[in-house]
Amino acid sequence: MFKYLRLRYKFSNFALELIIMGNTIKKVGVLTSGGDAPGMNAAIRSVVRACAFYKIECIGIFRGYQGMIEGDFKTLKSKSVNYIINKGGTFLKSARSKKFRTKEGRKMAYDHLVKEGVDALVLIGGDGTFTGGMIFNQEFNFPVIGIPGTIDNDILGTNFTLGYDTALNTAVEAIDKIRDTASSHKRLFFVEVMGRDVGHIALNAGVGSGAEEILVPEENLGLDRLLESLQKSRKTGKSSTIVLVAEGDKTGNNVFELRDYVEENLEGYDVRVSVLGHMQRGGAPSCFDRVLASRMGVKAVESLMAGKKNVMVGTINNKLELYPIEKAVKGHSKIDEELLRVSDILNI
Ligand code: F6P
Repeated sequence: MFKYLRLRYKFSNFALELIIMGNTIKKVGVLTSGGDAPGMNAAIRSVVRACAFYKIECIGIFRGYQGMIEGDFKTLKSKSVNYIINKGGTFLKSARSKKFRTKEGRKMAYDHLVKEGVDALVLIGGDGTFTGGMIFNQEFNFPVIGIPGTIDNDILGTNFTLGYDTALNTAVEAIDKIRDTASSHKRLFFVEVMGRDVGHIALNAGVGSGAEEILVPEENLGLDRLLESLQKSRKTGKSSTIVLVAEGDKTGNNVFELRDYVEENLEGYDVRVSVLGHMQRGGAPSCFDRVLASRMGVKAVESLMAGKKNVMVGTINNKLELYPIEKAVKGHSKIDEELLRVSDILNI
């Protein structure tokens, strides 16, 4: 066993030396862009520390692409990222830059990178961030590598995005609390969760909190079936009902219209609405997100050193894999349909 471990250590050291010898990347820029997500700080820390380990200079770019356009840069040393692994948000700040959507804006950003001597970029964000990075690379042949960070978990090429696990736990904790008050008053609650156009948060938080019904954009339940389901739930004698609604669901357009519809069409229901909103984006990252961020940051830097570019670091079956950015932005990852079935079975 020891012999095997020593061999493995020797081999990985050898592989490392090869990577270091072949490395032409001397300065890496890192930014966070789009909606912030818990775990982004842990990913920045990992990129900065991996750069320090390999003696690569690391430049923090503030406020995402907007900061790149304005040259809002700062050298980050290992110590610059002390005690941020446990912090929500992003200390590099984030923005959704309109100017980066223009050719002129991207040229300004490129000029700043050249002036600063940055050789490659690590982009932490969602599909908007990656689309921007992909276009930037096509125009200037500038190496970029993505780390998926969004609570929506909607990126192709990875089972998990940073922040998703934390957001799920935040949502479940909030729904548990709503359940307490709902059952005290025998009420029906429509609870809206984030997720943009996909239902990952709604579906998983719904199953995790025992919601009686889950409405996701991927499946149009229809208002009639919703009424049927609510009646069924009431017949079982439950003291509360929770319907979890993904913000992108179209069944009733929005949670307030759903409430009005149920009040008009079902007698005797005391209905309330709760929109969880941006609280789902905040808070300390879960251990899962911190570990994933740490692994992805190191992988991003080592991949750049190995000459990889225009790829995203994804995790597939707990193994880190590189996935072409242009494919990652082509669509959305699919929800687990089996979980919809599980939810139906459990809500008899
Ligand atoms: O992509 C993350 C996300 O929180 C989505 O779930 C939500 O639709 C959107 O961002 C909200 O964006 P903003 O913070 O700009 O209102």
